[in-house]
Amino acid sequence: MREIAVSGVRPTGKQHLGNYLGAVVNFVRMQEEYDGYFFIADLHSLTTHPRAADLQANVRQTLIEYLACGLDPDKCTLFVQSQVPQISELYLIFNMFAYDGELHKVPTFKDKVRTQPDNVNAGLLTYPVLMAVDILIHHASKVPVGKDQMQHIEMTRNFGNRFNHTYGVEYFKEPIGFNYGDVPLSVPSLDGEGKMSKSKGENTVIYLMDEPEVILKKIKRAKTESDLISLAPDERERIERSANPVAETQKWMTESIRNIFDLMALVSSPEVYLHYLDQFRKGTLRFGEMKPQIAEDMTIFLAPIRERIREISADQAYLTRVMEEGGEKARASAQKTVTEVREIIGLKSR
Ligand code: ADP
Ligand code: TRP
Repeated sequence: MREIAVSGVRPTGKQHLGNYLGAVVNFVRMQEEYDGYFFIADLHSLTTHPRAADLQANVRQTLIEYLACGLDPDKCTLFVQSQVPQISELYLIFNMFAYDGELHKVPTFKDKVRTQPDNVNAGLLTYPVLMAVDILIHHASKVPVGKDQMQHIEMTRNFGNRFNHTYGVEYFKEPIGFNYGDVPLSVPSLDGEGKMSKSKGENTVIYLMDEPEVILKKIKRAKTESDLISLAPDERERIERSANPVAETQKWMTESIRNIFDLMALVSSPEVYLHYLDQFRKGTLRFGEMKPQIAEDMTIFLAPIRERIREISADQAYLTRVMEEGGEKARASAQKTVTEVREIIGLKSR
């Protein structure tokens, strides 16, 4: 039997290069090796009260982009969270295993209290409970998520263990957060600082759907200092002969310049990257040349995804079928768990 993997994303609209390389690529790889349950967490988004039409459009867009990135409904279970009412039922039960004190301490909750003080609803407080249920209801052993979600996975293990302990059963197993590679990949922002994120504004992210002209415009505007260093010839020689010339060169870069090189590394060939790295060391680097090169390689990199987005968007019948079939598979798996949980805790069966 294959191991089970579960992961979800909130339907917040268009996906960007960071979402793709940081998250979706992992799901696509995992569907080959695991029984994957990948879903769109629309119930989680209700904490911010989206307009009905926006929520629907965002769920649809997220699904289209998942499919365009290579998630295959024949290889994994792809579904929308709210189409599995068993999740809401188990969520109610699991609220009995989550303590008020620990929920108040969760960093993501404290962040929300700070950033949206006028909407601190109970759904926000119990967000980790709903997430734990998403994971436990399919008995996942691996949960591919970024670093910011690891605390939620730890809470998932705690809630599952408390359930087991309370009823004297070994029912839920302990899931772990998972990433291919040693360090989770982080795609840099175009504003020169930190990681690419929707919350930093339209011009700091590259969307999977961006047209080539938009990509070029955004990359040209990406923040980079103009006062470049020029290394002395003996220093350059030392770096070139060192064990790791790339890392040695990066030590001389400011954050925004390192970011632009990191972006290039994601989409351009090693030869092209090393060529510009060499120019950086010599002090002859011209962003007027490097940026259009990145934009061109980024466009080539994203072209197949953009094309698939266009094709899938036009096929409403296919989308409906994917959602129906995925929902059915997810409900079957979830119902089995809910039936067993009802039996364990002594509720009447339905
Ligand atoms: P955003 O910061 O744009 O709102 P989300 O928080 O919705 O993105 O993230 C969705 C998924 O994409 C998460 O698994 C997250 O770890 C991943 N992700 C987001 N931005 C990046 C990035 N710049 N680099 C790598 N992974 C990212
Ligand atoms: N909380 C996750 C996020 O904000 C989304 C999510 C909801 C999730 N349920 C999940 C991720 C279950 C993994 C497993 O990105």
